[in-house]
Amino acid sequence: MSTTLWVNARLACMADAAGSAQDRVLERGALLTRGDRIVWAGALEALPAAVRADARDPATHWQEVDLGGALVTPGLIDCHTHLVYGGSRAREFEQRLQGVSYEAIALAGGGIRATVNATRAASDASLYEQAAARLRAYLREGVTTVEIKSGYGLTEHDEARLLRTARRLGQDAAVDVRTTYLAAHALAPEYAGRADDYIDAVCRWLSTLHAEGLVDAVDAFCETIGFTLAQTERVFAAARALGLPVKLHAEQLSNQHGSALAARYGALSCDHLEYLDQGGIEAMAAAGTVAVLLPGAYYFLRETRLPPVAALRAAGVPIAIATDHNPGTSPVLSPLLMLNMACVLFRLTPWEALRGMTTHAARALGLQATHGILAAGHRADFVAWGVDDVSELAYAIGRNPCQRIVYRGTERVPAPGGHTTGAVARRETP
Ligand code: NIG
Ligand code: FE
Repeated sequence: MSTTLWVNARLACMADAAGSAQDRVLERGALLTRGDRIVWAGALEALPAAVRADARDPATHWQEVDLGGALVTPGLIDCHTHLVYGGSRAREFEQRLQGVSYEAIALAGGGIRATVNATRAASDASLYEQAAARLRAYLREGVTTVEIKSGYGLTEHDEARLLRTARRLGQDAAVDVRTTYLAAHALAPEYAGRADDYIDAVCRWLSTLHAEGLVDAVDAFCETIGFTLAQTERVFAAARALGLPVKLHAEQLSNQHGSALAARYGALSCDHLEYLDQGGIEAMAAAGTVAVLLPGAYYFLRETRLPPVAALRAAGVPIAIATDHNPGTSPVLSPLLMLNMACVLFRLTPWEALRGMTTHAARALGLQATHGILAAGHRADFVAWGVDDVSELAYAIGRNPCQRIVYRGTERVPAPGGHTTGAVARRETP
């Protein structure tokens, strides 16, 4: 195990020592890490001599790293992606540019169903390689935790393939992967006209996949072109019976009151939320459910109805931001671009946007005790950025100021040319 004192950082811890939110950059900051954990974070001159002496345990390897005055934030967390799938939906993109709606394409058998066909046809190796290539883009921009949903298989076998691929990505690359079971994403073609039977199958498969250790959370698409409130509730009940947390694609295209249902099940998050009403907001606030806003999908679908940001803020609902990477509504591979879009499209402040991809994203994955802030006891996942201020992370478009990425206390090996190009960063052997 090695102990590192990272000095000369300008720290955006995203919280004070007690864990309360803080929009403040701490000058002359330092982080003391031991193994994969932060032991201490603060201004270097405040580092207690005893803590420093303790950390210099002769049994551990000690080093000091100068971060050169970089802005240091927690590693970015993308809490909503559909990274594993086959094929592309560029043709559908063209159709939509000509005015055909997302719903109409789905009802005609395209949309999610088109990706399901391409995914089922893809080999395991090809699914892995395609997703790994996408993941590389995330890693270059400072992502240290990513959620990956299933939902393009829609058979037990194919949902398992997607979840296993996600797990493998997490084992191979220097990133934490959290998996979400989303078989209730669209009706499998084998069950046409029998949505309730399909939901029975979805619940059965869940037990098997959970027993294989493939599922960290359970999600559904509650929508006119997805599943009803009652069907969604059956999926939630199956998750609850297994002790698994739930989340929901809710109020994306219409108000189905899915958020209030999800809140009743203590959901980690409700995601999209353009059509969320006050009742849903209050239910989420009472349940501590995170609102995950997805500006990429809002933009790509040319949605005009904004999520109720002011009301969410007023109710104290934590707001997270994610890419929602998927081939249909958000073919986005830049988490940093989402910070920009969250500010420009949804009027979040740059600090709110960054909190949305760190602290609140951690909460949306149930990881708030260990991830998303720079504080003692939390994971030593952080990024050194070559910028002066947090606002610059959200301001620039197409610029990657990421200088160094530390994952579990170890610097990710930069690819040739630095973090902005190159191959997937592999885990270092300890
Ligand atoms: O989050 N809304 C449902 N699921 C995805 C889109 C999936 C697709 O079109 O392939 C979303 O936007
Ligand atoms: Fe999604």
